[in-house]
Amino acid sequence: MPERRSFQAFHPFARLSRLLDAHPAGHDTPILLSIGEPKNQPPAFVTEEIVGAAAKWSSYPPPRGTAAYNGACADWLTRRYGLPQGMIDPQRHVLPLPGSREGLFFAVVSAVQEHAVEGKGDGAPPVILMPNPFYHVYAGAAVAMGAEPVFVPATAATGFMPNYGALDPAVLDRAVFCFLNSPANPQGAAADRAYLARLVALARRHDFIVGFDECYAEIYDTTPPAGVLEVIAESGGALDHVLAFHSLSKRSSAPGLRCGFAAGDAALIDKLDAALRVGGAGVSLPILAAGTRLWREEAHVEANRDYYRRNFELAARILGNRFGFRKPDGGFFLWLDVGDGEAAALKLWREAGVRVVPGGYMSEPGPDGVNPGARYIRVALVYDAATTEEGLNRIVQVLGDDVGDDDAAVSAAPQVAAAEG
Ligand SMILES: Cc1ncc(COP(=O)(O)O)c(C=O)c1O
Repeated sequence: MPERRSFQAFHPFARLSRLLDAHPAGHDTPILLSIGEPKNQPPAFVTEEIVGAAAKWSSYPPPRGTAAYNGACADWLTRRYGLPQGMIDPQRHVLPLPGSREGLFFAVVSAVQEHAVEGKGDGAPPVILMPNPFYHVYAGAAVAMGAEPVFVPATAATGFMPNYGALDPAVLDRAVFCFLNSPANPQGAAADRAYLARLVALARRHDFIVGFDECYAEIYDTTPPAGVLEVIAESGGALDHVLAFHSLSKRSSAPGLRCGFAAGDAALIDKLDAALRVGGAGVSLPILAAGTRLWREEAHVEANRDYYRRNFELAARILGNRFGFRKPDGGFFLWLDVGDGEAAALKLWREAGVRVVPGGYMSEPGPDGVNPGARYIRVALVYDAATTEEGLNRIVQVLGDDVGDDDAAVSAAPQVAAAEG
């Protein structure tokens, strides 16, 4: 049996609280660059739509969505990825979700449950493949289901994408589900089409599902990151083994709305729906009304991209080539090589009131004992330009050109709840 571990073991913010909360911020105005929560506002029409549909609060959320919402999602996918008309059937291939997080979690619940019901495997726990570093929900879902998380390095040496094809075929045969996050949190790398096509082929060969977590797909500078559905369209349109997850949290700066969707193989969508009907909250009709309009509207998304573009231009100017800085292919994080991410995070908090996430808190040590995130900090560029500029200037002042500082003591402190998707 895989080792049972608590959810907290994987939660970067629980660990960050233990690291920092015993220490006062070293500045009167702390800047929290730790949490990847958009600070830009969604368009005002969100409120109009919710108010307009307020009579519908008395209805339960429809598990399969509405023709209007699912149609808006399918049309957006078709526009965004240049899909052939009709490839995505709004009712069969799209499932509304409160956010991508819920879908990612329940997709593992569904895959492991199916595996057990069908009596597959030889008694060994099923494997869930994930990149390392990883979004904590991936590992949490695996341990919740008694499955074995297998962490696959996504480091500078692998172009920050996991090389699943290099795994032992026996491990691949035990896999029931695999996560791919592109653009990736935290590294900001995006998979190219060839990578996506190879992963779909690998999944079919070894019969596991891939959950393509594409929630950062709309946050980019000039080149829209590739998505799995466009690759599938190019190779004939068969959706088997594939689920793609999308969300309005980042695209529309609306993480509080809890509105997203999964798209993919009809049978997998049915199974995900069945799992969500057991434990999911659904998406209420007023929220679906707002979501419908958001998926159909592009002006606010372009303005959102401008907002992040400004922040990354500031980062390029202020950081230069320190800490291995590069503009990400997508998303709103910097992944900076500071030598010792935990020591740097403590120093930044104590000396400058800047809160960042040590990269090692988003990743697991490999079989060689090396944690692939340990040298890094993750910095969220979600604030307005003035705050971002101030935060980045403080980072340079405190960390300067030196990388790493081993004098920081790690202390135990009470855990404080922290948010992030
Ligand atoms: C990689 C990744 N996937 C999924 C999510 C979940 O986002 P949401 O549930 O708001 O769509 C997040 C949120 O931070 C994330 O970073």
